[in-house]
Amino acid sequence: MKEIGLFFGSTSDNTKMASEFMKGYLENEDFKVEIFDIGDIDSSKLLEFDNIIIGCPTWNIGELQDDWDSVFPDYEKLDFNGKKGAFFGCGDQMGYPDNFLDAVGILAKKFRKNGGSLIGLYPTDEYEFQESVCQEDGMLLGLGLDYDNEDEEFCEGQMIMWLEDIMEDFNN
Ligand SMILES: Cc1cc2nc3c(=O)[nH]c(=O)nc-3n(C[C@H](O)[C@H](O)[C@H](O)COP(=O)(O)O)c2cc1C
Repeated sequence: MKEIGLFFGSTSDNTKMASEFMKGYLENEDFKVEIFDIGDIDSSKLLEFDNIIIGCPTWNIGELQDDWDSVFPDYEKLDFNGKKGAFFGCGDQMGYPDNFLDAVGILAKKFRKNGGSLIGLYPTDEYEFQESVCQEDGMLLGLGLDYDNEDEEFCEGQMIMWLEDIMEDFNN
């Protein structure tokens, strides 16, 4: 059984709700998932896992969610060599089309720079934004969930597609 550490931050609870859905789905598929609110722990906890899921919404026009923002000075010093990381975040593509999911991009790029392998890239076709730090070569560096403009069922469908993809990568 593969063990996954899922780390999220959430201000208005959308990312929290998505994280709990993901934990339930993965556990049904026989993964063991430990879930942490990044606001409650030290970021070095991330290093206890080789398989990591990180959830961070974008706030304040292109910024990390507050709790992630507080741990970022420590996060950016961590050595992620040998770790697989799947990133996701909530955002609002209509309200913030020039900064959609920037926070996911900020965290994912730092993870990769510090030696981690990024999994769970997601196609951009389902979205209508203009600019994002999270976009690279026509792909998003993680899953974007837009509860501001899509219904919960749509977001659940996206999560299931993405989880099926990352489960394969965590197993390889
Ligand atoms: C003041 C404010 C600024 C925001 N800035 C962005 C942004 O720059 N990019 C983006 O994609 N979403 C932005 N959002 C949308 C949030 O990311 C979105 O509502 C998300 O679902 C919140 O997640 P949470 O409930 O987990 O905190 C912003 C929302 C507010 C209220």
